[in-house]
Amino acid sequence: MADLSRRDIGKLVGASALVGGGLGTPAALAAPRDQSFPKDFVWGCATASYQIEGAYREDGRGLSNWDVFSHTPGKVANGDTGDVACDSYHRYREDNQLLKNLGARAYRFSIAWSRIFPEGRGTVNQRGIDHYNRVIDDLLANGITPYVTLFHWDLPAALPGGWQNRDTAYAFADYAGLMAGKISDRVKDIMTINEFLCFTDLGHKVGTKAPGLRLGPREVNHVRHNGLLAHGLGTQAVRASAKPGTRVGLAENAAFHIPVIETPEHIAAAKKATRDANAMFLTAVMEGKYPDFYLEAEGANAPKIQSGDMAAIGSPLDFVAINLYTAPYVQAADNKAGYTVLPPTATSPRMASPWLRVTPEAAYWGIRQVSELWNPKVLYVSENGCSTDDPAVNGMVNDADRVMYLRNYLGQFQRATAEGYPLKGYFLWSLMDNFEWEDGYTKLFGIHHVDFKTQKRTPKLSAAWYKEVIRRNALV
Ligand code: NOJ
Repeated sequence: MADLSRRDIGKLVGASALVGGGLGTPAALAAPRDQSFPKDFVWGCATASYQIEGAYREDGRGLSNWDVFSHTPGKVANGDTGDVACDSYHRYREDNQLLKNLGARAYRFSIAWSRIFPEGRGTVNQRGIDHYNRVIDDLLANGITPYVTLFHWDLPAALPGGWQNRDTAYAFADYAGLMAGKISDRVKDIMTINEFLCFTDLGHKVGTKAPGLRLGPREVNHVRHNGLLAHGLGTQAVRASAKPGTRVGLAENAAFHIPVIETPEHIAAAKKATRDANAMFLTAVMEGKYPDFYLEAEGANAPKIQSGDMAAIGSPLDFVAINLYTAPYVQAADNKAGYTVLPPTATSPRMASPWLRVTPEAAYWGIRQVSELWNPKVLYVSENGCSTDDPAVNGMVNDADRVMYLRNYLGQFQRATAEGYPLKGYFLWSLMDNFEWEDGYTKLFGIHHVDFKTQKRTPKLSAAWYKEVIRRNALV
């Protein structure tokens, strides 16, 4: 700077900035960065059937593995269940009004498979289909576009062997094809499956989610493969029975990695770490093949692949949606992998859920890494949000910490759109406080507070903030 004359600086920042002599606060430097989102950006909220619906025995619904799990003592905090949850099965009209009041253009919700096929396959329960038709029609009547997830972890309990049984993938395809035929006259965006890792590994290896098993590596790989196969066969079934113009994708919590410093070597290392870490899920889906290093590392425990499996799993998708919450930092390293993943430390900030480290840059790098690795036509953020412990005071929750979290992540998503990555929409998790799986109602992600005694919904501060973001189509 010392060698620059005032004239040179004037050229750099624009002559008007220098009026009045001295640099002061040059207008060009003080102008806020444009934080707007692309025109037609889809702003929405997300939920899932078991987490909000309740009515677990109504209108012919069959039991799901989450009914069984949550009714097993010791599995869920406080013995909480989804028996009633937010009672959205009865209150969906009111919930759709919450979306409308936000100005949201879209709503991502899931269909409970066991409402459609109480036994998992076979006899169809028309009352289940009628229910979702009513939900969809009411959304459309309010100008809100439905985005439907077909499987968000609530597996019909009647399916023998659950995800350990390859037949479950075929049962899912039947269900996916049936539903696509019923709703694709009104629903244009269908997501097959939500988050492979949670119902495969957390359900069958770690055991913290339904069905709560702790299987060995061979069985776990088999479960993972059945999950992928369900996605692949489901995609094909949707394409076969849906109206033309229906778009198919999935909602995946891919494991992303943030380069410790934005230099070419760390950026390349983080990208490689992301491809490696998703070898058994998104990488296989996007490349139609498990990476060699993964199959070699698993050896005799590798999944048993039958003819046609990988072609189904690699079926082309119309969009990729990612659930994005947190990611570790990665450093380039002189080792076989070419990188080191840095573990979080005691001072890494986090939200109410212990796993939820606050790492906003994951938002930008997640979008960029998926784009660079696999070049999807369209990307969505199918989930992003956080749990907080803010108390309700006179019914009002001032969740400034959630606003802090969302503002920081949205800033990074905005950076991705400004750089031209094909991110077309964002679904905030979640529309309202709900059943947070094994944490029951102890970890709350909603931008609307739910009083679970009265079922009264109240917008939190974060709802007012999100409404303003949507109104301006820009970060506030
Ligand atoms: C992802 C899951 O899809 C959703 O069901 C869950 O509530 C959120 N993460 C928060 O943990």
